[in-house]
Parts: sequence; C-alpha cells; structure tokens
Amino acid sequence: MRSILTGSIVAIALAVAPSAAMAKAKKHHHAMHPMHKMAEKSLFERLGGKPAIDAVTDDFAGRVLADTRINAKFAKSDPTRLVTNLKAFMCSATGGPCAYTGQSMKAAHDHMGVTTGEFNALVEDLGASLDKFNVPAKEKGEVVAALAPLKPQIVEIKSPATGAPLPAAFKPAPAM
Ligand code: HEM
Repeated sequence: MRSILTGSIVAIALAVAPSAAMAKAKKHHHAMHPMHKMAEKSLFERLGGKPAIDAVTDDFAGRVLADTRINAKFAKSDPTRLVTNLKAFMCSATGGPCAYTGQSMKAAHDHMGVTTGEFNALVEDLGASLDKFNVPAKEKGEVVAALAPLKPQIVEIKSPATGAPLPAAFKPAPAM
C-alpha cells in the first residue's frame, strides 16, 4: 500500500511540474495553450497508472458496500465480478490501456431502481477514496467529470431519496 501511494504521488508531481519546453514556448510567443497544445499525460497516467487505480477502486468498493444509503442494491451481486469489472472500467474511462468486457452501463443497472440521490452518494464515496489517496483537485474533478455523463444510463428514479430497496425485477449478471 505504501509503495502504491508513493508511486502515485511521484507520478502526479512529475505531471504538474512545468516543463522547460512549455516555458520556452511561452517566451517565444508560440501562443500555445498549455492544456491543449502540450502533450499532457493521460488522466490514467497522472493518477499513477493501474496500481493506483486498482487501490482507489478497492477502497471505493469497500465504501460503497458499507454505505447504507446504497448497499441494498448490491445484495444479489457477485463482489468479485463487480470489483474486477469496475477496475477495468475505471482504467478505460481514465484513458488507460484496459479493455472493459462487462455489460453496458444501461444493461448493468437495468431494473435496479437507482435514484439520483443514490447516484450522488456513490460519487461522494468515490470522492472520499480519491481524497484518501491524495489525488489532487484537478485529477479528482476529471475523474468525476468522466463518470458524470453516465448518470442518465444508470439513474431510473429522479428523486433525492437514498436507501431505496433493490426491486425484485433486478437480475444480477452471472458471477465470475
Ligand atoms: C458513475 C457511476 C457508476 C459507474 C461508473 C458504475 C459502474 C459499474 C460497472 C462497471 C459495473 C459492472 C458491470 C458488469 O459486471 O457487467 C457495475 C455494476 C453494478 N453497479 Fe454500478 N456504476 C455506477 C453507479 C452505480 C450506482 C449509483 C449503483 C447503486 C446505488 C450501482 C450499483 C451497481 C450494482 C448493484 C452492480 C452489479 C450489477 C449486477 O450484479 O449485475 N452502480 N457498475
């Protein structure tokens, strides 16, 4: 755990250090916007790569399964499948070299009765995990921004309510 944390912090420190090329470009009025013209490392790399993503995802899954606002939804699901697929999903969603082979977000959450409040609770749990691993505000914002557009595919009930039971109609995906 310690080495993963250290690796993540080193990777982030390297990514945010202004490069000599950027300073030169500015000086010579090349009019490059640092965010767009410089080859910024992928979010995946800035987070610390696969070991860091996996560590954050393990922590995140632990928080979600302990969170009484949302954990009723996971009653019928295989935790191994969930964590394995979630790790690949997070890797892929942040620009990493992983193939996600699980269900679409629509299919995975079909008939689950997820509310807006429950979606927000899950994002809050993810934020707590990113904070625990000292992910900087910029990268934290980018992770949340990468997942926020999935809301319409996951939320079935527009309500701030949390702790809603898992509907009987929900059928879990096969265990791994
Ligand atoms: C941006 C938010 C979310 C993302 C990126 C996400 C991602 C995923 C992924 C990748 C899987 C695995 C699918 C598979 O194994 O085929 C999954 C499954 C699951 N998700 Fe989500 N999810 C999100 C929000 C939520 C919310 C808000 C809830 C409930 C409160 C939830 C409950 C579940 C459950 C119970 C499963 C297991 C489904 C099954 O057993 O078939 N998810 N999710």
